[in-house]
Amino acid sequence: MTQHNTKPLALVTGGASGMGLATVGRLAHDGFAVVLVDRDGKLAETETARLKAQGLDVRCHVLDLTDEAAVRALIQSLPPLNALVNNAGIFDERKFLDVSNTDFRRAYEINLIAVATLTQEVAKTMPNGGRIVNIASRAYLGAKNHPHYVASKAALVGYTRASAMELAARNILVNAIAPGLIDTPLLRNLTPERMAAQLALQPTGKAGRPEDVAHAVSFLVSAQTDFITGQVIFVDGGKSLGGSGA
Ligand code: NAI
Repeated sequence: MTQHNTKPLALVTGGASGMGLATVGRLAHDGFAVVLVDRDGKLAETETARLKAQGLDVRCHVLDLTDEAAVRALIQSLPPLNALVNNAGIFDERKFLDVSNTDFRRAYEINLIAVATLTQEVAKTMPNGGRIVNIASRAYLGAKNHPHYVASKAALVGYTRASAMELAARNILVNAIAPGLIDTPLLRNLTPERMAAQLALQPTGKAGRPEDVAHAVSFLVSAQTDFITGQVIFVDGGKSLGGSGA
């Protein structure tokens, strides 16, 4: 991998919270210099300071990833990235008959289009052997009560496969992780009843931890994975094995 200040450089979106935050910490422990990007400035700065106090090489940039010009300008201001983790995403529930075009556009803007902007800009300068990991969702297989989210994550899996084909000649590997229920602040958008319904569908009987996803990202961005691209790795406690998606 190309070195930056003797360390490879990684960027994690949505790095101020949940599995993005766990991934920032994990990659910094793995030896990356990590750029944490998030729109929540207060949280981003607090968490960056906390990680730096542990001796980790982390810096943050506060921006809204749906601001195309700001995203492209950020990447142009950075050295080439060795690893990109497209983790930021939004989730909310809407009944099938109530979901609006605005809901679909909101979900697509961040869960798909922001990923495409960032990936395209990063790919212009990413060195051979770079790694891109997109955080999709097990829900892309099908789930009830959030059709706009399901569709946006299925689109992200499609974009992952397209990117893998486009970038394979440069040995840039692009994979997706499909988390199941993971205990992060994102779940505050579930009512207690819906949370109970989701837990009931977990073969393991419990939600995963943000670190479970961070470890999978660590594997996919490592130099050991030289022959895995365009794949979806499920980190879902077996929920994708069967049963009806709630
Ligand atoms: P979270 O809500 O804890 O963290 C998401 C972070 O992304 C937040 O810090 C937020 O400020 C940031 N963000 C959102 N929109 C942004 C934007 N436009 N610009 C910049 N930053 C933005 O969420 P969590 O659970 O860690 O989710 C991470 C990813 O995992 C998301 O893509 C989500 O869809 C996906 N996922 C989560 C699951 C779960 O059970 N928590 C299950 C499956 C997938």
